[in-house]
Amino acid sequence: MIVDRHGRQFRNLRVSLTAACNYACTYCVPNGKRLQAAAHELSSAQLLQAVGLLVDAGGIEKLRITGGEPLLSPKLEDFLPGVMELGLQDVAMTSNGQLITRYQDLLLSSGLKRMNVSLDTLDADAFPKIARGGDLNTVLAGIDLLLANNWKLKINMVPMRRSNMDQVLPLLKFSLERGIELRFIELMNMGHLKTSNQYQQDFIGLDELLEIVGQEFEFAQADAPYDSTAIRYEIPGQGYFGIIANESAPFCRSCTRLRLASNGHLYGCLSNSTYQDMTPILPLPVPQALVQVQDMLSTALTHKQDLSFQGEVTVMKFIGG
Ligand code: 5AD
Repeated sequence: MIVDRHGRQFRNLRVSLTAACNYACTYCVPNGKRLQAAAHELSSAQLLQAVGLLVDAGGIEKLRITGGEPLLSPKLEDFLPGVMELGLQDVAMTSNGQLITRYQDLLLSSGLKRMNVSLDTLDADAFPKIARGGDLNTVLAGIDLLLANNWKLKINMVPMRRSNMDQVLPLLKFSLERGIELRFIELMNMGHLKTSNQYQQDFIGLDELLEIVGQEFEFAQADAPYDSTAIRYEIPGQGYFGIIANESAPFCRSCTRLRLASNGHLYGCLSNSTYQDMTPILPLPVPQALVQVQDMLSTALTHKQDLSFQGEVTVMKFIGG
């Protein structure tokens, strides 16, 4: 087992199927930027091979399929069944939900049962201003469809002062009514935010969020796994919500996440652009490849930050959220 001096190891692997996205969210890319696939994206067979090596190297228990937007990738059709066969404890997906209804056959027959849907507003007019793509009702239809098929859903919302602060309570009520656990994600100082003042203008922290929730709900802190990125709260009799408080309560000390980008680059930390390329080791015989993967994992652990999230110019859609 590969463990660092803080006792951290990799348990959660997040695999970005493609860097392409059908949205262009204001917090992800600057206005006018097109979201495209990475220059050298791996095939689904290569990604499965890389994932297999990481799992065989030991420690990985959970896997999340991300992007870009994973449902946009034709690789999903082969990747999803392949990954389900690995026998991991838990496989889930993060998606913007726009293509759930279109790919319902693939999703519902896959054995997957968990999805985190990114949804920043329930206001149909505000929606295209934040996502700069897609359509609210299509996402809502996707959510309904998965709920009707007993999927366990979370909604990810990034609250921002100038665009969707008024949606904190509506989204919480929407989620509680449907048995969905809402996750507020504090705005992270990544990508273009790092070099503008958009971050300072829009950031809303944990205390303020709790104050808004407290206007209508009683809540108490609830249990969460030791390596959970979210602080969870229970609203007695109604459900749960969580806050991923990268800034207000950094969780680097207990982070067990490892990220594989769609081009084969392996990242030990969302907040560090240093990567190792897995592509060259894929053609090696498995025992040799495994030795190299062990080395890569030890190195990737050194890329984690000790305590607090520093932010990084690398964009989330690329590393995989
Ligand atoms: N800050 C906070 N959350 C972000 N996401 C993407 N970029 C940022 C950012 N700069 C969110 C997406 C998605 C999740 C994986 O990360 O909205 O829900």
